[in-house]
Amino acid sequence: MCGITGYIGFREAKPIIIKGLQRLEYRGYDSAGIFLFDGKKLNVSKTKGKVADLEKILENKSTKGNIGFGHTRWATHGVPNDINSHPHTSQSGKITIVHNGIIENYDTLKKELISRGYVFQSDTDTEVLVNLIEEIKKKHNVKLGKAVQLALTNVVGAYAIAVFDVEKPNELVVARLGSPIAIGIGKDNSEFFIASDASPFIEYTKNAIYLEDEEMAVIKLNRDIRIRKIKSDSLVKHDIQELTLSLEQIEKGGYDHFMLKEIHEQPKAIIDTYRGRMLPDEGLIKMAGIDDNIDRFLNAKRIIIVACGTSWHAGLVGEYLFEDLARIPVEVEYASEFRYRNPIITENDIVIAISQSGETADTLAAIKLAKSKGAFVFGVCNVVGSSIARETDAGAYTHAGPEIGVASTKAFTTQITVLSLIALKLGKENGSLSTSDFRAYLHTMQLIPSKVEKLLKIDAQVKHIASVYKDSKNCLYLGRGFNFPVALEGALKLKEISYIHAEGYPAAEMKHGPIALIDENMPIFVIATNKGHYEKVVSNIQEIKSRAGKIIAIVTEGDVTVKAIADHVIEIPDTEEAFTPLLTTIPLQLLSYHIALMLDKNVDQPRNLAKAVTVE
Ligand code: AGP
Repeated sequence: MCGITGYIGFREAKPIIIKGLQRLEYRGYDSAGIFLFDGKKLNVSKTKGKVADLEKILENKSTKGNIGFGHTRWATHGVPNDINSHPHTSQSGKITIVHNGIIENYDTLKKELISRGYVFQSDTDTEVLVNLIEEIKKKHNVKLGKAVQLALTNVVGAYAIAVFDVEKPNELVVARLGSPIAIGIGKDNSEFFIASDASPFIEYTKNAIYLEDEEMAVIKLNRDIRIRKIKSDSLVKHDIQELTLSLEQIEKGGYDHFMLKEIHEQPKAIIDTYRGRMLPDEGLIKMAGIDDNIDRFLNAKRIIIVACGTSWHAGLVGEYLFEDLARIPVEVEYASEFRYRNPIITENDIVIAISQSGETADTLAAIKLAKSKGAFVFGVCNVVGSSIARETDAGAYTHAGPEIGVASTKAFTTQITVLSLIALKLGKENGSLSTSDFRAYLHTMQLIPSKVEKLLKIDAQVKHIASVYKDSKNCLYLGRGFNFPVALEGALKLKEISYIHAEGYPAAEMKHGPIALIDENMPIFVIATNKGHYEKVVSNIQEIKSRAGKIIAIVTEGDVTVKAIADHVIEIPDTEEAFTPLLTTIPLQLLSYHIALMLDKNVDQPRNLAKAVTVE
């Protein structure tokens, strides 16, 4: 997720754009840049780092102008550095662009443009797009708007873009597919603002239009905005909306907290994570980090997963995935234990390090230890160019976008998505999975985001359950198989934001001690999906019931047996058992959120916690 903001009108553009970028930094903060048109030429300033670093550069420049746009980056292609920062400019220097999204077929387009003599400065997909626009403009002898439209019909992926051409200096062209673009409209069309959300222009105008997917707009002063469908070229009319959200609400996407926003971003985050990697119609999974090292993975004697916290829980789900789908032995280790245990590691081992921040000290140290003993280390990170991403031999990024809330939510589900893709790919490659089963899994995975979307609508039911149990002093979370790690994760979520003591256990472990804790004051959250050792879990529930424990069960839609005995039941859509963690975790995330809120805790910044534990 990146932040885009721009201006065209009678005011000085620079201060508006810089302030707008500061408001959009929650969307990404790897690098920042701005372009300003001074009436003669296109002035671009950009740098790795934050908007404050860009401001320092601008202090030494007297660039002025009434038109321009800026960008604050969350890297997806190309590590964060000056040259990969946006805006990007075409080879002629006449066209400049900022982009939020991912161009999946950029490699193919880049090769074609190189064959036509284009030379690229950066590693980004965005630089490919701006040169594609330039090439089409020249080849078809069309103006910027038409060139953008034709270029986008060749693009596969997600984008929100703003484009400027010195040959058409009184207009901006914007377009969107999958990433937001808001257009602020000044009085009598005397000025226009563009942005990823309304926070950069809310103080100037409350009148806005939001582009829909596959739409583009040519914005010219003193004229109504012209909006077209990119593919059909048909003109589109959008009513002007009068904005009522506060600035703070806009930054949180209208949600009260970043954590809730990020819980609700999970359908899109999962799609963005498998986008371009999972091709169900072709029956393919393409992951460069795996493809380039496939022999290592197929010959590995075992996979060791190292991580901390929620990422460690995702690693546990990974253990079930790899052993079930690819029949590869897996060990999951707390990075902090692994690094000091003098573990036995050989060059036949593959270590997978999982980390949202890519900066967790214990995980980084575990990676260095594994590499020093000859292991091949693969990273699953959410932050491009982070320390762990740079330290590992290869990797696959989750495309969750910035996770601001300290309690990890969309990182967990996107980590599981990446691990699922790897396990499926290796299972197909080593013959553990038949082609038909493999393809069936891909189509099942494709249905997950809509099932998460559907699950997010049970918020009111979860809120009620939260109100019943918010004053509990202790809670138990139980799950079996793929959902044992989800029980651990649910307990961690509750602990870290509501400060209620909670423990996760394999359901069968009840008899080995925890059952002594159960009485009428103890709520037990039990995951009882229909393909997850269901009968065994039902008997665990009956054991709890007979000791007056309060049962809140997560079951598969249509369940009857558990419904008859549990105190509360939350239904999740049916899916392959291997993918149920992507669904069962959702109500537990919402539950911890609502309980914490009812207890008036700081949901986004819980006490004593940091988003990245960069110290031991
Ligand atoms: C989870 O909600 C916590 N924020 C914490 O356990 C976190 O998962 C852990 O510190 C690991 O962080 P990482 O994924 O950035 O390495």
